[in-house]
Amino acid sequence: MRLSVLSTKGGVGKSTIALLLSKYFSQNGVKTLLIDRDPLGWVSNLAKIKGKGLLASIVDKEEDKQTYFKEVKTKDGGDFYILKLYGDGARFYVDLDIIRRDEKLYKKN
Ligand SMILES: Nc1ncnc2c1ncn2[C@@H]1O[C@H](COP(=O)(O)OP(=O)(O)O)[C@@H](O)[C@H]1O
Ligand SMILES: [Mg+2]
Repeated sequence: MRLSVLSTKGGVGKSTIALLLSKYFSQNGVKTLLIDRDPLGWVSNLAKIKGKGLLASIVDKEEDKQTYFKEVKTKDGGDFYILKLYGDGARFYVDLDIIRRDEKLYKKN
């Protein structure tokens, strides 16, 4: 099952809902991966993922550092994972372009 939390409006609770849903599902036995697609990486920041997102890591050839992935342990049991996809500001436009033009990088993505 894949759920998307989307809105063009900022500050309406997308990140909060995504985090609470991840917590709820993981505590109820559903294997959960929260993919943070916010260009500002807000959820990742809350989860203290401070390094580069996956896209920037691929372009900079730093995927092995795995700064874009974290396991979150909730107090009441139930762990889930967060994948920081972008979150490195405006460079994501440039990175997407680089990846689209490079077949090897594109396949990795
Ligand atoms: N149901 C709610 N009631 C009150 N405040 C909320 C609620 N959901 C989120 N907030 C607060 O509103 C602010 C914006 O929420 P956030 O989840 O970051 O929005 P978005 O991801 O859409 O930008 C945060 O300070 C958050 O704590
Ligand atoms: Mg948000």
